[in-house]
Amino acid sequence: MKSLVLSGGTGSRLRPLSHSMPKQLVPVANKPVLFHALEALADAGVTETGIIVNAGNTTIPAAVGDGSRFGMAVTYLPQDSPRGLAHCVLIARDFLADDDFVMYLGDNIFASGISEELEAFRRNRPTAQLLLSKVSNPSAYGIAELDGRDRITALEEKPARPRSDLAVTGAFCFTPEIHEAVRNTKPSWRGELEITDAVQWLVSHDRDVRGTVYPGFWKDTGTLHDLLDCNRVLLEAVEPGVQGTVDTLSRVYGPVVVEAGARIERSVLVGPTVIGAGSIVEDSYVGAFSSLGRGCRLQDAGVESSIILDHAAVHGVRTLHDSIVGKGGEVRLCADSLPRHRLMVGDDCRIEIPA
Ligand code: DAU
Repeated sequence: MKSLVLSGGTGSRLRPLSHSMPKQLVPVANKPVLFHALEALADAGVTETGIIVNAGNTTIPAAVGDGSRFGMAVTYLPQDSPRGLAHCVLIARDFLADDDFVMYLGDNIFASGISEELEAFRRNRPTAQLLLSKVSNPSAYGIAELDGRDRITALEEKPARPRSDLAVTGAFCFTPEIHEAVRNTKPSWRGELEITDAVQWLVSHDRDVRGTVYPGFWKDTGTLHDLLDCNRVLLEAVEPGVQGTVDTLSRVYGPVVVEAGARIERSVLVGPTVIGAGSIVEDSYVGAFSSLGRGCRLQDAGVESSIILDHAAVHGVRTLHDSIVGKGGEVRLCADSLPRHRLMVGDDCRIEIPA
């Protein structure tokens, strides 16, 4: 069974991070979201993967390479512009040939993997099998209706008046019958070839389309808050270990990873937390559910429940909470006696300041 991982798109809701990197490469628990996806697929026994990337994108191929580090062979499939999820299946036709495949959205996190669900598909081999998840805001998703025997009876993309609270998640198992369905799909009101319309075509043509409610934590990392949620959940599962150095004046509580070359001095770390390779933490507090990338620098800082990307720095600010600091970003206390803020805010940034 092959997999088709969708890593194109615009990432507009993840600006400013997505201005400088594809949203699938934003790290959660110190690893790009896309790497979590590829690991889940490899664990489920997938050895051949096609990755859809925006035409001209080089950062995803540079990060993933030929796939050997994940135990799979990767083929890159450029998409000229984001014309929809079903369009991705259309342009992957030659790569997919007549094999069954799992289509996996590269910005989705399934915290306990999808091995059991793929196994069930291989065993029963319906025409299509979708993973579903109950959500509180169904209008933001594709929505499926199920009968009492796990058959999908109807689907709708981001309905204004949802008839169910079961969201279509980012994992779809397909037999080659999906190709006829995508060929018969017309662009939606938002101008995209929707995968929900293609699957609805299968349902309308009496094919066996099933829905399985995913029992674990699932999230589409569409917004900064979703990223922080995923970070919290995935950090719970990290294997603690200290490869860097922690001096005798520092204290470490709970599961903490200190990667090679990182240096912790006169600081307190509370897990679950990851300090990336080569980062320096001095006279600081790193609270639970934080992840620091590589080469970060914290001095007299306090950071909690936050994601700090590679080479970012926090100096003298002890109140960072539920925050994301982009690559090379800097948050620092300034020598100004007046209680005012001096900011350089990049495009599409959001800063929240207490009243
Ligand atoms: O996350 C679940 C939802 O994903 C489903 O409930 C919806 O039914 C489904 O349409 C999809 O909705 P989104 O609007 O959230 O999709 P998004 O545009 O975020 O794209 C999902 C992934 O696919 C993301 O990694 C970007 C990639 N993509 C997207 C488009 C439109 C492509 O590679 N090419 C594309 O043309």
